[in-house]
Amino acid sequence: MATLTDTPLRYGLVSRIFHWGMALLFLCQFASAAAHWALPRENALLETLWSYHTTLGTTLFLLVLLRGLWGLSQLSNRPEPEPGLLGRAALLGHLALYALMVIIPLLRLIAAAGGTRGLSYLGIEIFAPRAEKIAWMDAAAEWHGELGWLLFFVVIGHILMAVVWHNRIQKDDTLRRMA
Ligand code: HEM
Ligand code: HEM
Repeated sequence: MATLTDTPLRYGLVSRIFHWGMALLFLCQFASAAAHWALPRENALLETLWSYHTTLGTTLFLLVLLRGLWGLSQLSNRPEPEPGLLGRAALLGHLALYALMVIIPLLRLIAAAGGTRGLSYLGIEIFAPRAEKIAWMDAAAEWHGELGWLLFFVVIGHILMAVVWHNRIQKDDTLRRMA
């Protein structure tokens, strides 16, 4: 029977919904970023994919905060990393994923808070437009795109480790405890 909370053998339902739900949303977010990077302006596909970037990015920011709190509450009873260097690398990899998932949207939100266009989320004004932008806040966004692509490549490494290394080569149950 699936439990809501984690156990040392398996991630529980809440952790798995966070993991796979957010994985799907990140796929959509990277699709919108890729369109922004690759497609010419004035393009219908770009407009569609770009139209949700801010809203989905802000949603992902809120979700990762909730997921982090949930993860902390489950810290003592979730599956432990395997002993040795690889286990430590996996832990560092997961911490890097969390750090990037927080920092990337946060930088853009700081820029929006100090910018001239303001920010609305689901029709609610979060930051009012300013007459003049605040330079240091605006500068926060400089690394948003680069770190966004870094996250993309860390995620690719994460997927390869889970599917190729653990599931195909080691044939252990790392993938199954999240599946
Ligand atoms: C975890 C969430 C997010 C991810 C993974 C992400 C990812 C990215 C990436 C990879 C790019 C670069 C696209 C390119 O190369 O052309 C980008 C650009 C952009 N993003 Fe995000 N983003 C996120 C959240 C947000 C949020 C919350 C906002 C607004 C509040 C936002 C606004 C923008 C804007 C305006 C650009 C174009 C200018 C720039 O590159 O800085 N993003 N995003
Ligand atoms: C096809 C895509 C994916 C697969 C197959 C996959 C697989 C896994 C597996 C098997 C684990 C458990 C690892 C362990 O117990 O040591 C895990 C954990 C984790 N994954 Fe993924 N993953 C995918 C996508 C993603 C994405 C897109 C992100 C974030 C952007 C992500 C972030 C994490 C994090 C932070 C953990 C640590 C556990 C937690 O706090 O949720 N994963 N993943």
